[in-house]
Amino acid sequence: MTSAVFVLNGPNLNLLGKRQPHIYGTETLADVEEQCREQAAAHGLAIRFHQSNWEGQIIDWIHEARDAGSAIIINPGAFTHTSVAILDALNAFDGPVFEVHISNVHKRESFRHHSYVSLRADGVIAGFGTQGYLLALQRAANRIEAARAQTDTA
Ligand code: DQA
Repeated sequence: MTSAVFVLNGPNLNLLGKRQPHIYGTETLADVEEQCREQAAAHGLAIRFHQSNWEGQIIDWIHEARDAGSAIIINPGAFTHTSVAILDALNAFDGPVFEVHISNVHKRESFRHHSYVSLRADGVIAGFGTQGYLLALQRAANRIEAARAQTDTA
């Protein structure tokens, strides 16, 4: 089975493009998915792109990635700031994890300044708009390529 990059989105991100466009922009999550698919294909990578408003569903996808994922890119939405359970699930995943926030959370309310997910993430991108997903995907592709090159020479 080809290992995929999991791109996981948390609560309210289904409303991307409609909710608070002055903060999150006008692109929809479908637009983001299309751009991620294009970039992943250019790198020869499969992706699994998901969104859920349910914490348990996100945890189940992280568990799936243990067997089927080469990297996780996650925008956990508000669960970023609350979910020890998502942190625990990510800690049970061995590959690279990249945390993405469309807005610059550090410029916003103080409750958004703390992230449980950052305790596990290998990299964090915030405030680059939806382009942050593509930057994270680029980094994931580089990490996967480097890991492959190492296995080939081992
Ligand atoms: C967000 C930032 C979070 O604080 C917020 O709860 C979100 C979106 C972002 O992408 O900027 O839902 O993760």
